[in-house]
Amino acid sequence: MDKLSEIFSLRGKIIVITGATGLLGKKHAEIVACYGGTPVLLDLSQQKINEFVNDLNDKYQVDAVGFAIDITNERMIKDNAKHLISRFGKIDGLVNNAANNPKVESGNGDNFSRLENFPIESWHDDISVGLTGAFLCAKHYGFLISQNPEGGSIVNISSDLGLIAPDQRLYAKDGVNNDQQDVKPVTYSVVKAGLIGLTRYLATYWPDKNVRCNAICPGGVENGQPEDFLKEVNSRIPMGRMANADEYQGALLWILSSASSYLNGAIIAIDGGRSVW
Ligand SMILES: NC(=O)c1ccc[n+]([C@@H]2O[C@H](COP(=O)([O-])OP(=O)(O)OC[C@H]3O[C@@H](n4cnc5c(N)ncnc54)[C@H](O)[C@@H]3O)[C@@H](O)[C@H]2O)c1
Repeated sequence: MDKLSEIFSLRGKIIVITGATGLLGKKHAEIVACYGGTPVLLDLSQQKINEFVNDLNDKYQVDAVGFAIDITNERMIKDNAKHLISRFGKIDGLVNNAANNPKVESGNGDNFSRLENFPIESWHDDISVGLTGAFLCAKHYGFLISQNPEGGSIVNISSDLGLIAPDQRLYAKDGVNNDQQDVKPVTYSVVKAGLIGLTRYLATYWPDKNVRCNAICPGGVENGQPEDFLKEVNSRIPMGRMANADEYQGALLWILSSASSYLNGAIIAIDGGRSVW
């Protein structure tokens, strides 16, 4: 066991984070940097990655790096994994965070979000990013973690909607027939529940290599939603409010660090109690 005051340290640890320039991805990267780890940021836009890498390195005096990688493209992941090994010699952690966040509103009145209309292309795209991408990252970066003599930690970012069904009444608009209401798309539930299956699979896959795998199921983050929506959603959360974007950082740090050295296969709801009701 590490010195007690050091158990949350990520010093010397190389942590790959997907979707790293999104709302929560940035927070994940920040806590890794703040506790001495080296965040490896993967996202689609090289420009956004570069800007964020510079911010992190200035603020936390770390050597964060970032790459424009489409996690649905196995060739890109494979090449990047090879590059990371030649650069750092090892990988210690993976945060499978990237996902499409399909919007409830259809935008053009075609009710695309409803199951009866949901386009097969959107199904494939959402599954491809949220699930296939996580599988591919586990396959390549996870394998390299299994080759690390110390093992490491894989964290899948699921959702409270991986545990419970979306309450479609939250999205209902006055004056619209029930069969015309926009809904939370089916892919969100499928991807987030799928990540829980992936978590259990990975938690037992490299048992002799000290590779731990756990999932966080975050509740919704307050991010400029309309007042009437907030009132409705807050009434379904025992704590009476949505999350702040920084309220998952402590849990992520715990799961990536040796403070959680015996945590494996856990599905951790951090949702203000939403999934308890
Ligand atoms: N924000 C919330 O309220 C909330 C709640 C529960 C769970 N989550 C989950 O947390 C995670 C992060 O959510 P967020 O709010 O930061 O979303 P976000 O949309 O802000 O960020 C997602 C990031 O993933 C990237 N991405 C998309 N496709 C990609 C691909 N093919 N390859 C690489 N990167 C890709 C996007 O460019 C984006 O930067 C998601 O898995 C989301 O489902 C979010």
